[in-house]
Amino acid sequence: MKLNPARQISGRLQLPGDKSISHRAALISALASGRSEIANFSTARDCASTVACLRELGVSIEQNNQKLIITGTRKLVAPGRPLDCGNSGSTLRILTGVLAGHDLTAELIGDESLSSRPMRRIIEPLELMGAKIESTGGKAPLKVHGSANLTPITYKLPVASAQVKSAILFAGLNATGRTTVIETSPSRDHTERLFNGFGVPVKSDDLSVSIEGPAHLIGGAITIPGDVSSAAYFVAAAMLLPGSDLTIERVGLNPTRAAFLDVLTLWGADISVTDIESERNEPFGTIKVRGGVNRSASEQERTLSGSMIPALIDELPLLAVVGSQIDGGIQIRDARELRLKESDRLATTAANLRAMGAEVEEFDDGLAVAGPTKLRGTLVDSHLDHRIAMAFSVAALLATGETQIAGSECVAISFPEFFSLLDSLAVR
Ligand code: S3P
Repeated sequence: MKLNPARQISGRLQLPGDKSISHRAALISALASGRSEIANFSTARDCASTVACLRELGVSIEQNNQKLIITGTRKLVAPGRPLDCGNSGSTLRILTGVLAGHDLTAELIGDESLSSRPMRRIIEPLELMGAKIESTGGKAPLKVHGSANLTPITYKLPVASAQVKSAILFAGLNATGRTTVIETSPSRDHTERLFNGFGVPVKSDDLSVSIEGPAHLIGGAITIPGDVSSAAYFVAAAMLLPGSDLTIERVGLNPTRAAFLDVLTLWGADISVTDIESERNEPFGTIKVRGGVNRSASEQERTLSGSMIPALIDELPLLAVVGSQIDGGIQIRDARELRLKESDRLATTAANLRAMGAEVEEFDDGLAVAGPTKLRGTLVDSHLDHRIAMAFSVAALLATGETQIAGSECVAISFPEFFSLLDSLAVR
């Protein structure tokens, strides 16, 4: 994809459903009693992987555009072939937690990127609960031998990970007694909110969450809020292009996901959030951005670290791009987990920012990005990582000259409509 600079990002839009919530809504509906109707289901290729795996497991799913009708089942059936999770860490990790609690054997596979990501983090707790999981040196392919009668555990997560927390909570549905997950810093809490919304109480207390099993989910209807991580690219572009005027309606505002709005506001963005409602415990509303940076941030406000990292995790490459435009630059620390995403996002972000003329220091656990820098259009590499492709599309709008993004088709992993929407919002 070749992209030219833009003068503004302006318009009003709604976005396809949130990817994280869509995965969970599909998994919950598959296990729940009765029929569930999911509206505004994500268009992400990752969520299509979850749906395809569930069909292989004998779940009836009718899909009409972004509406899904799912008839839940108490007993998943052993799949006739490996379950292909594609590029999706959420599918592989959370589905392994689901399968751990069923009397069947299933193999889960993924693409090259997913097959290089760490899986011991789910294997260890799920084996403590009584499942048996074969892996290839702690990586996919995984072969799960599940059991419908798991043992509950209290488990302290070694890293903040909503995928691992969710895998354990889904397994906990089929354990007899209380399963507790203790986090080091709060990660996204969609599983907890949706379990509560679909009839299974989850108790949250500071950094621990517990459910009592065996527990049975009750099917129903949900409209998925727009994906706030997809919104982030347009919000950041609008902030950095003076004169922009952008409104995004019905977008998810879960605080464990929307923390980038607070960071951009501290960095001088003019952002307002209105019309807040909620759907099955998930808040959503309208985000308005007026272009331009209206304050200088202190050094402390320009440092992202510690317990704030999990709530910003998917937006960090984008925040590094924004940081290159902020007086004094920004620092990201305590974000070693970024090296274990669809690409090594600390390395790929640093390399692409440098290619565009920014000054970047790379640490084992973060980045320091100098700013403000006028970026230059050039060839950058997505490394087939959707968030890198989209973060550098925002950089391209601010740069001089043309930017080419290699492998940009990977945006379909989370946001197939990204380039067409960007084109319709960009004023050139
Ligand atoms: C996700 C959790 C995060 C995030 C990923 C989606 C989820 O991963 O980066 O894009 O849906 O639970 P980790 O759980 O590995 O931090």
